[in-house]
Amino acid sequence: MIKWMLKVLIIDGMDHHQRPAKVLSCVPSLGEEVVGLAASALHEGKLVVFPTETVYGLGANALDEEAVQKIYQAKGRPPQNPLIVHVGSVDQARHLSADWPEVAEQLARRFWPGPLSLVVPRAPCIPDAVSAGLDTIAIRSPAHPVALQVIQRAEIPVAAPSANPSGYVSPTRVEHLAKSIIEAAEWVLDAGPCPGGIESTVVDVTVTPPRVLRPGLISREELASLIGDVLGPETASTSRPRSPGLLGRHYAPRARVVVIPRDQLAALHELAERSGTSRFGCLLLHGTCHHPDILVAERMPTDVAGYAHRLYDALVRMDRAGVDIIVVEEPPDGPEWDAIRDRLRRAALW
Ligand code: TXA
Ligand code: MG
Repeated sequence: MIKWMLKVLIIDGMDHHQRPAKVLSCVPSLGEEVVGLAASALHEGKLVVFPTETVYGLGANALDEEAVQKIYQAKGRPPQNPLIVHVGSVDQARHLSADWPEVAEQLARRFWPGPLSLVVPRAPCIPDAVSAGLDTIAIRSPAHPVALQVIQRAEIPVAAPSANPSGYVSPTRVEHLAKSIIEAAEWVLDAGPCPGGIESTVVDVTVTPPRVLRPGLISREELASLIGDVLGPETASTSRPRSPGLLGRHYAPRARVVVIPRDQLAALHELAERSGTSRFGCLLLHGTCHHPDILVAERMPTDVAGYAHRLYDALVRMDRAGVDIIVVEEPPDGPEWDAIRDRLRRAALW
């Protein structure tokens, strides 16, 4: 029963006819007043939902342990999963780290503000809750004007995971936010769809060579072209995961996600028979699928950036349309598709 209720809460988004007063519009322009309200709320230890260039974040003052705890509560996030701290400058990042290696400096200078989180040794001013007790901290400077202006006005580092209930798809629009997240926030800043659409690349620079812990829109190749050797994520067989948030099913809609090669899309009726359900959604690239019970079929952009921008929005809409299974046409093999394949693999446990 509780499980069932949780599912309902999770997929139950904002009622479009009753846009809460706490949702503040930042388009077409970001008002000074809105920036001020958000910055003050952060100072008062409250939570603010804000857009970044990747996904929407649920932010709190990273130096205020009690405020940070509210994030874990609101998301139902396991306490061992550390948060990313958002900063307004490379200087601010240096102050939050016990050591700022030369590679961190190089990467930050080249890719910030942008979708790259750097894992570095943690400074003592960072509360345990932020880094879930680890001696490292993930830091990034977001490339979204709303996020940057709020952080710069507040003049505090902002801890912010994606603004979804733990395990669910990250929101890329305010319309995706669960009611429980809206309720937990003091303000929700609405700037429309996030351009990137999937979460930042997380790279650990405390090890040599640096290692990508979570692939994202900045590829391993791009990092390597600047700093040389970069390792990929550890496989499941390696002993202790370096990024606790990467365990198990994640970035997942309520519906079951099944990733299948294009040449098997034609056999959808077999899947329907085997699974005993026929309420399908299909995310297609080049293929086609035919079945009388397909509720929603969507053709995705064939370029990585376009696909990433649309992916979570498509998954949320299919969930809300009530499909039981989302059939995803397997994306291409190339390294530029690593991040997309990673998110689909986690959503599907594929
Ligand atoms: O694009 C993004 O990164 C978004 C926006 C809001 O900035 N944020 C985001 O945060 O995706 P979250 O909490 O959903 O994911 C943070 C990831 C998790 O996989 C977590 O385990 C990892 O970063 N992480 C955070 N701190 C870490 C640390 N000290 N060491 C290793 N991994 C860390
Ligand atoms: Mg997340």
